[in-house]
Amino acid sequence: MGRLDNKVAIVTGAASGIGKGIALRFGREGAHVVVVTDKRVELGEQTAAEIRAAGGTATFVQGDVASSADTVRFVAATVAAYGGVDILVQNATWSKPGRAVDLAEEDWDRTIDVGLKSIYLGAKYAIPEMRKRGGGAIINISSVNGIAASPRLAAYNAVKGGINQLTRNLAIDYGRYNIRVNAIAPGHVVTESSGASIHQDPQQTWSFTDACPLGRVGKPDDIAGAALFLASDDASWLTGEVLVVDGGMSIQVPEVLIAAHYRRFGGKPAVAPIEDPPKDE
Ligand SMILES: NC(=O)c1ccc[n+]([C@@H]2O[C@H](COP(=O)([O-])OP(=O)(O)OC[C@H]3O[C@@H](n4cnc5c(N)ncnc54)[C@H](O)[C@@H]3O)[C@@H](O)[C@H]2O)c1
Repeated sequence: MGRLDNKVAIVTGAASGIGKGIALRFGREGAHVVVVTDKRVELGEQTAAEIRAAGGTATFVQGDVASSADTVRFVAATVAAYGGVDILVQNATWSKPGRAVDLAEEDWDRTIDVGLKSIYLGAKYAIPEMRKRGGGAIINISSVNGIAASPRLAAYNAVKGGINQLTRNLAIDYGRYNIRVNAIAPGHVVTESSGASIHQDPQQTWSFTDACPLGRVGKPDDIAGAALFLASDDASWLTGEVLVVDGGMSIQVPEVLIAAHYRRFGGKPAVAPIEDPPKDE
């Protein structure tokens, strides 16, 4: 018995990283999985093939989550393949870093369209299908950047903050139809794209490791576990929540992070460093 037996789940951006981790986990738990991605068609097909090779059911559908026509098409393809939609994981993202003054307008627009407009489009076209099934679960992949902001990520911060508030709105508007809408705010998860930016520098990875009370950065499967919980009946009375999954990084006051940085890299801390390990251990 899987925790998602016979449920139909769409996972966007499941060609790689966190989305792939969620798709694989949902497949192992008995869901019929529809893998959606825009450009990396072979990798998307590979995710679906891996689910099938592990004994699950999966289909790949090419689609751009920023496109209304593509969203209509991948929702319709899901209904045609498996008879309906129970779960929608909105994970796909694209973003251009930059400060507001430097960021080109077309990069702002594309970041907002892929990251935030897509959440509205997915809800707009999947919710009517969920209502036909008597309910459903939407899980929007946000970020700790939706709660606190990082420098030089003007558009990304706006996307993730917007996702959190849209999640609450959708939860309120569609709760009466037994549709639960939650978000996950991951901390630092090592994936291909985060590896190409923040995790390419071992010093940065160490900083993030030190910043986590659990003592490590995340893996896609850490996020998949949280997504599975939110998608399953175990979360049957849970909606409108933004679940932070970050190894504890963001529960701390900033001084702890500063002290961790100085412990690792030396220099004179502005605040008293926290001993590591404490003397009594
Ligand atoms: N990795 C981290 O540390 C981290 C931290 C916080 C939040 N997140 C969030 O987790 C999600 C996944 O991140 P990741 O690190 O796995 O990234 P990733 O680049 O590995 O995955 C992104 C996926 O989205 C797909 N995609 C991009 N544009 C698309 C479009 N227009 N239409 C359809 N698919 C599209 C890509 O092909 C890819 O499969 C994102 O929403 C990201 O903001 C990641």
